[in-house]
Amino acid sequence: MAGNITLTIIKPEAISKNYTGPILNMINQAGFSIAAMKLTKLSSKQAEEFYAVHRDKPFYNDLVEFISSGSIVAAVLEKDNAVEDFRKLIGATNPENAEEGTIRKLYAESLQMNAVHGSDSDENAQIESAFFFARSERADYL
Ligand code: CMP
Repeated sequence: MAGNITLTIIKPEAISKNYTGPILNMINQAGFSIAAMKLTKLSSKQAEEFYAVHRDKPFYNDLVEFISSGSIVAAVLEKDNAVEDFRKLIGATNPENAEEGTIRKLYAESLQMNAVHGSDSDENAQIESAFFFARSERADYL
């Protein structure tokens, strides 16, 4: 249902450090249900498309290179007020500014390697979920 999902990506550096399990545990403990999930790898072209909104930013090329550099976990998370609540759970984009106890404070390495992505609006949550998952790959209740 619109407004009740968000899309997360566990990024390559967090995957390679085996933080996937602890991060998913925090997500469940915070009351989110996993409504779709896959381990995958983005091509450069797919990464460019996913982050197209940042095309004009100085960090765009590095971001595309980084996010396509290794395996990621993409997941659709379901909860009331999912977008806002998930952004609270992950903390500020730059882990140096993230609050204690947030996913980025605990597991992020840097502004770019910030462990997880979270959708920034209900509309983008729908677009980003459709980017990764066919209807048949999502929970029936979505
Ligand atoms: P994410 O939430 O995935 O959305 C866009 C990503 O770009 C962000 O997390 C960071 O990984 C990265 N990012 C945002 N701002 C900067 C910046 N100033 N320098 C480098 N990377 C950035």
